[in-house]
Amino acid sequence: MYPTDDSVSIDQLVLDPYPIYRRLRAEAPVVAVPAVGRILITKAEDTQAIKMNPELFSSDDPDTPMERAFGAKTLMRRDGEDHMRLRKAMMPSMSPGQVKRVWTEQIEQIAEQYIDRLPRGEAFDFFADFAGPYSARCVALVLGLPSASDQDIQRWSQVLIDGAGNFGGIPELFENTDKANREMNDCIAHSIKEKNEYFEFSALGVQTAVADPIEYEHIVSNIKIAIGGGINEPRDSITTVLYGLLTNPEQRDAVVEKPELFAQAFEEAVRWVAPIQVSSRRVTSDTQVRGIDIPQGKVVMTVQASANHDEEIYEDGHMYDIFRKNKRHQAFGNGPHFCMGTHLSRRMIADIALPMLFNRYPKMELIQPAEVKWRGFGFRGPINLPIILK
Ligand code: HEM
Repeated sequence: MYPTDDSVSIDQLVLDPYPIYRRLRAEAPVVAVPAVGRILITKAEDTQAIKMNPELFSSDDPDTPMERAFGAKTLMRRDGEDHMRLRKAMMPSMSPGQVKRVWTEQIEQIAEQYIDRLPRGEAFDFFADFAGPYSARCVALVLGLPSASDQDIQRWSQVLIDGAGNFGGIPELFENTDKANREMNDCIAHSIKEKNEYFEFSALGVQTAVADPIEYEHIVSNIKIAIGGGINEPRDSITTVLYGLLTNPEQRDAVVEKPELFAQAFEEAVRWVAPIQVSSRRVTSDTQVRGIDIPQGKVVMTVQASANHDEEIYEDGHMYDIFRKNKRHQAFGNGPHFCMGTHLSRRMIADIALPMLFNRYPKMELIQPAEVKWRGFGFRGPINLPIILK
């Protein structure tokens, strides 16, 4: 039977999980952690194999608070055809072709507008003043919700995340999700009625326009998943890239000189600190991982944050290094639930926002790097980034 490690606390994981994962990879790569209520899987080979085998490791976990928080069983908690049907309905809005043809020009305009309004020569918080609002605006555009404010989108996203992680059943968190669900439902209905000029290309538009559309409740829950899972990650990854580049001057000089390196800078940032650090899967029949028995019904947590630092793949995985030899990573997941927003995120951050920022402000500075705080167990990134644009 699997070993248990009760020395690990949630607080430690939220503050800095990486030393814990390093120890677990070496000593107990398959281990139950009572503080989390899951069996943690920390080696890259295992996390990948689990996600690639949905028959044995199902996404359908009836015991998570996600269904209560979203008011629906979302595509992330479905398997097989049931999952694919809902996924395929929304995917065309974020395909590489659609991102290139339709969204690139709009996103460039948003980036310009949001960079223009940043103060020059005085300190500001890049996380709160750019990363969050920029992510919210781009995602609102692609989803087809132009009337939702940046503040609303960010609040809805955070409230859904808090609700989906509300294992303790705190009533206030579900009251917040109920309120946010009502507001999102109104906003979605309003956007369908108003149909702005990009509606037909948007996630809402592609789902409602097909000849044989999925049911309205699924359209709504797909949009909510993209709000809950599409704001924090671009926000956290662009903040992480900036931290990585500004604390490594030779890498920063390299991207300024060769902007095509921004793609590497972005991929390395999500490898280094995965914005979604963990994903859960329920075991459908008795099995073994790394020779350790796991009974049917148990929930394993694949820790992609740990997989991305695995010594078997990466040398000095704890360092930010855009020139590292092995660049593949699991930050966007694996298998049938592979992130739907991958191309969109790359375009928003690596192709548009970073080159624009560094082109205008090649000498921007991170003041007091030691003041930057990193937080999060499920989702992780810096929660502040004091910058001066020069
Ligand atoms: C750097 C940015 C991002 C990262 C690192 C990221 C990461 C991930 C990961 C790891 C998963 C898989 C979770 C699992 O296996 O259980 C996922 C799924 C998903 N992501 Fe992202 N994400 C990012 C941005 C976005 C954006 C911008 C959107 C949309 C606006 C988005 C939409 C989705 C959706 C809809 C799914 C569920 C796919 C499915 O279940 O079939 N993501 N993401």
